[in-house]
Amino acid sequence: MSDAQRKILVTSALPYVNGSPHMGHLVEYIQTDIWVRFQKLRGHDCIYVCASDAHGTPIMLKARELGITPEELTAGYSAEFVNDFADFGIEFDNFHTTHSPENEAIVRQMYAALRERGDIYTRSIEQSYDEKEGMFLPDRFVRGTCPRCKSEDQRGDACEVCGAAYAPEDLIDPVSVLSGTTPVKRESEHYFFKLGNYEETLRTWMQESALDKNVAAKLEEWFDAGLQDWDISRDAPYFGFRIPDTEDKYFYVWLDAPVGYMASFKHLCDRTDGLEFDDYWKPDSEAEVYHFIGKDIMYFHTLFWPAVLKGAGFRQPTSVYAHGFLTVDGQKMSKSRGTFIKARTYLDNLNPEFLRYYYAAKLGPTIEDIDLNLEDFVARVNSDLVGKLVNIASRCAGFINKRFGGELAGELADAELFAEFAAASESIAGHYEAREYSKAMRLIMALADKANRYIDEHKPWVMAKDEDQQADVQLVCTQGINMFRSLMVYLSPVIPVVAENARAFLNESGWQWQDASTPLLGKALPKFKPLLTRVEATQVERMVEQSKESTPVADSQAEKQDDEFISIDDFMKVDLRIARIEKAEPVEGADKLLALTLDLGDDKREVFAGIKAAYDPETLVGRHVIVVANLAPRKMRFGVSEGMVLAAGPGGEDIFLLSPDDGAKPGMRVK
Ligand code: MSP
Ligand code: ZN
Repeated sequence: MSDAQRKILVTSALPYVNGSPHMGHLVEYIQTDIWVRFQKLRGHDCIYVCASDAHGTPIMLKARELGITPEELTAGYSAEFVNDFADFGIEFDNFHTTHSPENEAIVRQMYAALRERGDIYTRSIEQSYDEKEGMFLPDRFVRGTCPRCKSEDQRGDACEVCGAAYAPEDLIDPVSVLSGTTPVKRESEHYFFKLGNYEETLRTWMQESALDKNVAAKLEEWFDAGLQDWDISRDAPYFGFRIPDTEDKYFYVWLDAPVGYMASFKHLCDRTDGLEFDDYWKPDSEAEVYHFIGKDIMYFHTLFWPAVLKGAGFRQPTSVYAHGFLTVDGQKMSKSRGTFIKARTYLDNLNPEFLRYYYAAKLGPTIEDIDLNLEDFVARVNSDLVGKLVNIASRCAGFINKRFGGELAGELADAELFAEFAAASESIAGHYEAREYSKAMRLIMALADKANRYIDEHKPWVMAKDEDQQADVQLVCTQGINMFRSLMVYLSPVIPVVAENARAFLNESGWQWQDASTPLLGKALPKFKPLLTRVEATQVERMVEQSKESTPVADSQAEKQDDEFISIDDFMKVDLRIARIEKAEPVEGADKLLALTLDLGDDKREVFAGIKAAYDPETLVGRHVIVVANLAPRKMRFGVSEGMVLAAGPGGEDIFLLSPDDGAKPGMRVK
């Protein structure tokens, strides 16, 4: 190892666990995992931690809607993230949760330190309040008419039609998304962090942390606009940590979320001999700390977080690495087009290593968005991985296996050519280190072209026919296999499973980066098994089809990214039927749900409906309602729901079942 061993702690953003992981998330976790695997391969002591981000209003409300606790909701989705990530080869050293005792302890410690320094003050502010639901409304839970362009049904913080930014109070005819009632203004005391105290510190940190120039430019913009104090509290009801010495105030989710990085690491330290929390987090620590994030959460990571760390007496991140957003076929992911693809849907159809390679071939160190072009994906993977890379080995291995008892020659036929492969080592490493993955992939594929040209020129399949040229066949194939081996070492951070299989074929126990520079000679190899098979366009088409069918998940990213409209075709897919309620019963443990047994003429269904506040179960029996009959069955805590009963209204007691007029018969189609 030329440079000394580094101690590095790496994080990816902590995903909100109120929806399933999708292709957009994977950009980040694959990018980070490649970097971590690269550092480990270089012999550095590199630790990768993550956690689920479990707190906040959307999670609390979604759990409530499903009739389960936020703990249950987040545990379920966390497990999904952990499984899907593992199947994509993303290898965390630890995956914890922000709703943990470790996190609460560090949050409290930091808060006490900030108070002590005089960085915290309280002030009463006025906010939208939903009297019916008994809660303050975050901006996105208020909708109304834009004060500027008068477009209806706009969000509480900005107009999607004219782009105006405003406060929810400025909306004309504002409505609470939760209850449909008009929010009132109500005062409440909030806790603020004096971010302005940290301008100098932040400027210094910015100089030292070698941020990407676009990230630095954003920071400059924020400095120019003036640093605003940060509201770190929320009123009950809230899912989070209660602020010490208060009854009904909670820390805002974005205060405790980044602390979750430290808490996950602490949780790992507590279970690992010789790993010391302070070695990484004390102010003069020599360890390096990097946060990989998406460009949408830069404000939190480059302003609040370094300031809070400084104030609370901890070290600051060495750097923050932001990436852009994923588009699919040049557009934002869309459920109607089938390009809102869940991680699991991809895994059901395609090899995860292909996506890792494709993202690597596209990724650079900037916040530019990256595009997954599905046609290009198929072409690129087949041409680079199958056609160029794996082909080198399959063209040579057969001869070595069949003619030479699996044994490699004792010397290289073209030492100079191999030296070129070895000499590329530091440029490739430099690109990985700088997150210039696309440049690294280009260099590696150019070498793969070279290796294939070498084999084309020497034609072992021709020489093999000539008794006198057997030794040359072995030499040429040994050369080919060695070039292949160096490339596999270089690619192992990107396609770890293919690399692992290649290593098994080469009969080696482990690889380090520098192994790429020394050839493998005179060694007996086991039988070669094909390492990869081509992708077929039909596999991608099937994945897109399946993504069209999957029921929308109401997670925040999904909402941010999905189209506003569905097509008439989408609507026609919905099978609406008349049903007769045969039985209606309360559900134990769920205060809003009724379990309904529905008669659809030729079919009976069990359906859960959140209409308990509005209807007495007895009055429902015998009534006709409209149901969505082809909704995929949904597993809920209380059982499986096999459809959905249509109702309208603001909620609570004001829910009105859509009841067809007399004459309707169970099973009839509506539309
Ligand atoms: N919970 C916060 C992060 C807290 S970190 C202390 C959050 N969660 S998230 O689930 O919405 O996003 C997790 C990460 O995935 C973020 O870095 C986000 O930028 C990234 N991505 C989510 N959707 C993405 C795309 N469509 N494209 C690329 N990255 C995306 O934010
Ligand atoms: Zn507007």
